[in-house]
Amino acid sequence: EDTPAADGEGAPASEDLELVSDGTLTVCSDVPYPPFEIEDSDAPSGYSGFDIDIVQAIADGLGLELVVQDVGFDALQSGTVLAAGQCDLGASAMTITEERKENLDFSDPYYDSLQSLLVPVDSDIDSLDDLAGQALGVQQGTTGKAYAEENAPEDTEITDFPSDGELWPALQAGTIAGILQDFPVNDEHATADEGYHIVETYETDEQYGFAFPKDEKPALLAAVNEQLQELRDNGTYDEIYNTYFST
Ligand code: ARG
Repeated sequence: EDTPAADGEGAPASEDLELVSDGTLTVCSDVPYPPFEIEDSDAPSGYSGFDIDIVQAIADGLGLELVVQDVGFDALQSGTVLAAGQCDLGASAMTITEERKENLDFSDPYYDSLQSLLVPVDSDIDSLDDLAGQALGVQQGTTGKAYAEENAPEDTEITDFPSDGELWPALQAGTIAGILQDFPVNDEHATADEGYHIVETYETDEQYGFAFPKDEKPALLAAVNEQLQELRDNGTYDEIYNTYFST
């Protein structure tokens, strides 16, 4: 039978999704964060990357147009941007944490990650302990910052940056001695510039999820999870994965 999907089966009616803008999936993300979020004038939304391509495919599956808004990560992860109704969801390589769940709802996990330390090849830093007395760059509001605060030597100068767009140039300029952040992003930098390498990884067992304003969009959350499963089943997830990751 083909009664409409009050129980989450089949394609949801667009009016049930409580979208910020009709016919549009409005997604907030902090760009740049390669290879997850990249400015890309050739892409339909003006952005590409692993996260963006996944939400583009989800929007396609729901018959919605994707609009991406570049916002600060700290305000996104704290819940304020989504609570203000600026976007339907956040897609920003955001780790699902118990603390964030107080202010956000999360989709099913879509990517497994870990932390890492990136330093210049010509430095004598081999581990986090070698950062004693030096400046270690982190991004505001991130799990990488929290990891650094818990694990770096006490006299490490943990230095906050609003985005990877300032963090990575600061390392290249020598303003900071290293970057502690998600492995895939540091790995992207190390691959792009042979003057930098990852000296340590930290198995933090992080999983990324798409973030929703707390308790506000249950139908959209269910629809996104359904689409995510569909992308895994039909090979689209793997195709997008292989575009950005070699292993
Ligand atoms: N996974 C880390 C976290 O959730 C960092 C995410 C930063 N994402 C971004 N698009 N800048 O804290």
